[in-house]
Amino acid sequence: MRVLWRGKVTNLKTVWFEGRSVKMIDQRLLPDILQIHRADSVEKVARAIENMTVRGAPAIGATAAYGLALAQIKGEDIKKSCDRLKRTRPTGHDLFYALDLMMGSWRSGEDLVKTSRTYAAGLESSCLSIGKHGARLIKNGTRVLTHCNAGALATVDYGTAIAPLRVAHSRKKRFFVFVDETRPRMQGALLTAWERLQEGIDHAIIADSAAGYYFSKGEIDLVIVGADRIAANGDTANKIGTYTKAVLAAENGVPFYVAAPLSTIDFAAASGKDIPIEERDEEEVLSFHGVRVAPKGSKALNPAFDVTPAKYITGIITEKGIVSPHDIRKLRQVNRQ
Ligand code: MRU
Repeated sequence: MRVLWRGKVTNLKTVWFEGRSVKMIDQRLLPDILQIHRADSVEKVARAIENMTVRGAPAIGATAAYGLALAQIKGEDIKKSCDRLKRTRPTGHDLFYALDLMMGSWRSGEDLVKTSRTYAAGLESSCLSIGKHGARLIKNGTRVLTHCNAGALATVDYGTAIAPLRVAHSRKKRFFVFVDETRPRMQGALLTAWERLQEGIDHAIIADSAAGYYFSKGEIDLVIVGADRIAANGDTANKIGTYTKAVLAAENGVPFYVAAPLSTIDFAAASGKDIPIEERDEEEVLSFHGVRVAPKGSKALNPAFDVTPAKYITGIITEKGIVSPHDIRKLRQVNRQ
């Protein structure tokens, strides 16, 4: 992604392998500080995923792949390293997909640095393809709603839900983006808005609860969200609040698309009921930017994701094209090629 860094425009990836460490944009510090975080052990890579230095399902997958490559060059136990990385975040499927692929490569005696770099490059090109397939949904004047951050920061580059916007923007389409702030961690307000500013894409941040107002006024034409895990029947887990937007879209006759690479599809999960939902620390809800806002003594519940049933999804934008959520199983064969 093109960002202004150290006084000049630079092309940065979200995560990469350099020397004997995994480097990543520290997403906890954005939008105020653009800083690179260096993880030089598997444990540090795992912690960076847990504490959301790096986040977004495809970016987590690429980071874990690099983490296992690090284990190989540092002589750490590969199986234990893989288990440690798998225990970081339970919902996003790309983590498990990437690590299983890396373990296959290790069993075949391959160089894991090379495999991880190939994996990240493949993911980047998949995201660009998602952008090209999805860009046809965006016309001059389209008003798009997004939720959370499914941009370059959630992948290696380009993003998933945001990739079609970037491609449409590069084709000189004029459109507008409603950016859900995305409580409790504010990925929309902090990360998606920052990315749109870097790219010069017209947008406004809205409170999560404001989306219904804009739907009711007929001011949203299209919803595109990312995904953390898609079940074989098309049910999709994404950031908490996505389901609400999907129901609102259906009620108001607005098309609702999910954008994700094939690595996000879990063909072993028959439906959304099989998707594990991460529960995060209640402090994320009780406090805002480290400042306690709730009364002392109140507890909070903090599910990080919800599941949108396939019936609310108009289409899934993948690197292979746009498919109906009911045709997800057909992509299984494609994924093996
Ligand atoms: O908890 P996060 O920030 O890792 O969750 C990320 C999301 O849920 C994104 O919305 C997303 O669409 C999946 S990553 C492209």
